[in-house]
Amino acid sequence: MTDARCAVVVLISGNGTNLQALIDKSTDSNYHVTAVISNNPNAFGLQRARRAGIPTAVLSHRQFRDRETFDTALMGEIEKHENHLIVLAGFMRILSPMFVSHFHGRILNIHPSLLPLYPGTGTHRRVIEAGDRDHGASVHFVTEALDSGPVIVQGKVKVTATDTDDTLMAKVAAREHKIYPYAVSLFASGLLRMEGQQAVMEGKPLPPCGIDFESLSPNQV
Ligand code: GRF
Repeated sequence: MTDARCAVVVLISGNGTNLQALIDKSTDSNYHVTAVISNNPNAFGLQRARRAGIPTAVLSHRQFRDRETFDTALMGEIEKHENHLIVLAGFMRILSPMFVSHFHGRILNIHPSLLPLYPGTGTHRRVIEAGDRDHGASVHFVTEALDSGPVIVQGKVKVTATDTDDTLMAKVAAREHKIYPYAVSLFASGLLRMEGQQAVMEGKPLPPCGIDFESLSPNQV
């Protein structure tokens, strides 16, 4: 029997707490996770997937001579599974333009900052050093530029004087676990698309910072 829900392939490299949030929410949502693929054989997220009965695959980038060869194999692995959407959940690899154009408009990523602020790594430390009061996470469509595709939704946290990298990471992770399933289900509903370089919701472009998750009412999330 075919499953009418949106088929999501999740790519991971590590712990997989976002993967877990996506799996948990999928039980009463409009998407399902059809496969989990890791470039790291020791990623704990693989155990999370197996526990949920989801097929897994490991493709170690170390066994490939360059990015294109790895990405070609990754595309082949993804295509073995039903895939309407590719979700990067802590996948620590930069994807080649070839990969991004193959799945054009069908790749999402989550980043631990309020994009366009702080692309790249070390976001919590950089927020503390800058003295920012606001921080958070963004879900965005993946384009060829690193951490800068059109933003779909942002979840926000307040930074206090006593925050450390670790406390901020925990606060931001809690928002990530809400906004990622929300963004995936928006895509799965067919209401959300990438058109050109814009995220478009029900035919209207979203603002540059996407949807403010904190402004949604409980029946919208
Ligand atoms: C998250 O902070 C996410 O924003 C970033 O990688 C981390 C993944 O964490 N892209 P986890 O593996 O989902 O726990």
